[in-house]
Amino acid sequence: MSKYYLTTPIYYVNAAPHIGHTYTTIAADAIKRLKRMQGFEPVILTTGTDEHGQKIERAAAAANKSPQKFTDLISNEFRQQWKTLDLQIDRFQRTTDPKHAKVVQDLFDRCVKSGYVYKGSYTGQYCVFDELYVSEAKPGDPCPDCGRPTETVTEENFYFKLSAFQERLLKFYEDQPDFIQPESRRNEVIAFVKQGLKDVSISRTTIKWGIPVANEAPHIFYVWFDALSTYMSAVDGEGLWPADLHLIGKEILRFHAVYWPAFLWAADLPLPKKLFAHGWLLFENDKMSKSKGNMVRATPIKESLGADALRYYLLREVVFGQDGNFSYDALVQRYNSDLANGLGNLASRTLALIHQNCGGKIPSHGSTDMGGHAKTAVETALYAYERLEFSKALETIWGFIGVLDRFIVERAPWNLAKSGDTYNLADTLYTAAEALRIVTALVYPVIPESAAKIWAQLGFRTPLDAIRLADLEWGKLASGQEIEPASGVFPRADVKTMIEKMKEGEAAELVRQQTLMGAKVAPPPSVAADGTSHISIDDFIKVDLRVGEVKTANAVKGADKLLHLQVDIGEPQPRSIVAGIALAYKPEALVGRKVVIVANLAPRKLRGLESQGMIVAASLEGGNPVLASFLEDVPIGARLK
Ligand code: MSP
Repeated sequence: MSKYYLTTPIYYVNAAPHIGHTYTTIAADAIKRLKRMQGFEPVILTTGTDEHGQKIERAAAAANKSPQKFTDLISNEFRQQWKTLDLQIDRFQRTTDPKHAKVVQDLFDRCVKSGYVYKGSYTGQYCVFDELYVSEAKPGDPCPDCGRPTETVTEENFYFKLSAFQERLLKFYEDQPDFIQPESRRNEVIAFVKQGLKDVSISRTTIKWGIPVANEAPHIFYVWFDALSTYMSAVDGEGLWPADLHLIGKEILRFHAVYWPAFLWAADLPLPKKLFAHGWLLFENDKMSKSKGNMVRATPIKESLGADALRYYLLREVVFGQDGNFSYDALVQRYNSDLANGLGNLASRTLALIHQNCGGKIPSHGSTDMGGHAKTAVETALYAYERLEFSKALETIWGFIGVLDRFIVERAPWNLAKSGDTYNLADTLYTAAEALRIVTALVYPVIPESAAKIWAQLGFRTPLDAIRLADLEWGKLASGQEIEPASGVFPRADVKTMIEKMKEGEAAELVRQQTLMGAKVAPPPSVAADGTSHISIDDFIKVDLRVGEVKTANAVKGADKLLHLQVDIGEPQPRSIVAGIALAYKPEALVGRKVVIVANLAPRKLRGLESQGMIVAASLEGGNPVLASFLEDVPIGARLK
């Protein structure tokens, strides 16, 4: 059978791994296991780290480390994370690997040779975070993607003639309708390309941390030209290119669906077969970000509930391709209902009944019509898996588990045992065990560790990894096979205790990562003898709290929680303040209202707007903020003491 080569994005090392990266890599691992089950050989999974560029250079400087030391450290965090989660990674490619640099240079040389590269100069607004020029932006404008301020940059660069590929790309998307999935993303790409493509610069001269363009100092390769080549350098010389699947997040689809095919065509190299762009994982319905402090890491979840609980939750709860939500509560609820009560219960009940009634051996073949149900479940689940519709596949399998539960209850084998109906007893228990075997094999790509445990308890000596589609046929379970003692695979979790445990683990993991990244972790506030935290009056006096009056209030484009206020605090000019109160207050209701602001906070920019202070509000857990105000009239500019 043929090879299957799949990749995840290579992750930037400016941040340590969090659950967003884990989501993609877990999905890739599940696909790898599935492809193996489908008989592909070998199945190779590449991931790695994207280590060049200004963003990384700056992160290293902030951590007071050389770029190389810093990238070594963070790259290793990713490697360890995948190991901790037991993901079957075959190639871990770093962009700082010299072998990789050769492949990048080779791709460039081929593009030069075919006439698709030229030198030109450009001045524009550049977003350092996204490593992108923002077209039509003026100095001071924020990046439309991330909201961070753009910087004016002039450079002489090597350009790639992307514009020459517009028609070819459109024709290609048309001829290969499965190239970009899901369909909705494909339509976005087509609409983007139809607007017209501009040439793109593929080198930089303003940055040092990157792969030098041979004989063209001070040019270094643009990070995306460098990064995309990883998919080839990881398997250089192994005959595995082209990739069968690039699995990515939706925000980097354009690079993969537009730039990458064009680079490869220019270099006369084969294109990957398929791109699948999944959606974003949100935390309690909010975008995860470092600044919001609402990121989640996988290790504490693994240590509390197990890696399979996380894998199952992510692939069952989120429709693959769409945005989805992560919440600790939903994670534990799913674990209890589907894994502990659903699959876990089916396994322990079936195995215990066989121990009690059949001397621990699989009884003789039955004649129930469960085989038909199983066949439909297998076909439906495999069809969904093939289309990467994980949640649908799992829903089908759990539907089948429900059928089995009802079957066991209806047949009531405990009564059959009492009445001495050995034929029907054996028939029932064989059916249950055979169905459990098939379910276990079907869930293996998603929950490999637990599936392997149930597999071993069913008495199989061969690893579940070796299972192939043909083995999913009904009736393959041999009568007489000795089973192992049953032991619970998914112990029930107390929701509250489990959430607390995971949150505690998360807090500790955050501190560990921050320390690693060179951040100074704030010491805990001093604790007084009675156990409460106190600050001195000198500390309090440092905070300049003032009464102000809101002069104007406006919504902030693209930020549904923010309002931009002008607040008069008795100074010659009102203060510009950006406040996260838009969900609680309509702008017009604020004008003329007295508020309290912290007047001596260092100014900072939010969405390109300067915020010269902070508005004081009560922060309610899970609720809207409530502005501090006075019952009596207070003059503008009065200080709170
Ligand atoms: N280095 C580039 C990719 C180069 S590939 C040739 C990059 N790196 S990244 O570290 O920002 O990782 C982005 C990828 O991580 C996303 O495409 C997605 O696969 C995953 N995710 C990171 N955060 C995520 C969520 N919150 N939700 C889902 N996946 C996200 O872009």
